[in-house]
Amino acid sequence: MNSLNIAKKDLDWANLGFIYMKTDSRFHATWEDGKWSEGENITDEMMVIHEGSPSLHYGQQCFEGMKAQTAEDGRVLLFRPELNAERMANTAKRLLMPEVPEALFLKGVEEAVRNNYAWIPPYGSGASLYIRPLLIGIGENLGLRPATKYIFRVFVSPVGPYYKGGGLSLISLAVTNYDRAAPLGTGKFKTGANYAGGLISTKSAQELGANEALYLDSAERKYLDEAGSANILLAMKDGSFVTPESDAILPSVTRRSIMVLAKDDLGMKTEERPVELMKELSNIEEMAACGTAAVISPVGKIWVYDKWHAFHKDGEEVGPVMLKLYQTLLDIQSGVREDPYGWTREVRID
Ligand SMILES: Cc1ncc(COP(=O)(O)O)c(C=O)c1O
Repeated sequence: MNSLNIAKKDLDWANLGFIYMKTDSRFHATWEDGKWSEGENITDEMMVIHEGSPSLHYGQQCFEGMKAQTAEDGRVLLFRPELNAERMANTAKRLLMPEVPEALFLKGVEEAVRNNYAWIPPYGSGASLYIRPLLIGIGENLGLRPATKYIFRVFVSPVGPYYKGGGLSLISLAVTNYDRAAPLGTGKFKTGANYAGGLISTKSAQELGANEALYLDSAERKYLDEAGSANILLAMKDGSFVTPESDAILPSVTRRSIMVLAKDDLGMKTEERPVELMKELSNIEEMAACGTAAVISPVGKIWVYDKWHAFHKDGEEVGPVMLKLYQTLLDIQSGVREDPYGWTREVRID
């Protein structure tokens, strides 16, 4: 129990997987005739939509992924949700969908979190509440054109670590025979089509023994893009901290935050620049994949051009740079450490 007398669910918090769990409430708003409804909190997890809906045929849909954490003092914290609102608005524009205004986005997220208080993992459990905002084009349609109606929904699910092994365990990535996104395509937007096309790359990577796919740029297949559901971070042997610059990768909220921490906290020289993988491979000391779900997942080895290449200590140990950044980020996200950047946002429960 807590000060609100809301009993938490009786879950094995420390051993949650990354799977959907039905919670009590979800936020649901609709767009029609040029305007958004106020939105409401509903219990039904099902959606009934027209069989001609453009989201079903032409992939006119997008989504976001973020987390709420319980701080040591019991506060419930979001991490930079305005950036998710902005990214969803950018994706909506690219797909000719109506933007969800920031105020409606934040209201939906906060209400979905607040109304599922019992499902938010307690402080120290290693788990968090994953939040999934979703925008889809619906309504009767046949030809290739934008929808005339839209649904904005936000649901939540308590989750544990994204990759098997959990926490800070080392993962491996593999470059497969598939590309993710074209330079002027939709790679920097969070639309489901990017992920549908990537399912086969993840499968191929897993058949090679890796956890996830690693993508090179699709124009030349030379430069590092990103992993299937995370951006890439590199601690170089020359002491710099690098993240690949590319127009075809998702602008990760986690990566943008870590670049700030690497500079401010570790005093490293940070660079966002194109990384020609084979040319720079021998200068990479530590690699990690980062994202809301992945947090910072250190990469022990990668499969590229028919060979495994290992990083720090033959890929057997997490390197000191990623370890420090992981702890610093988690401490800020869970309110253990002061947040000088104003990145966390409290969701008032009462
Ligand atoms: C393709 C892709 N890249 C990167 C990320 C990481 O982005 P963020 O840190 O905003 O979660 C994600 C997931 O969220 C993703 O799906």
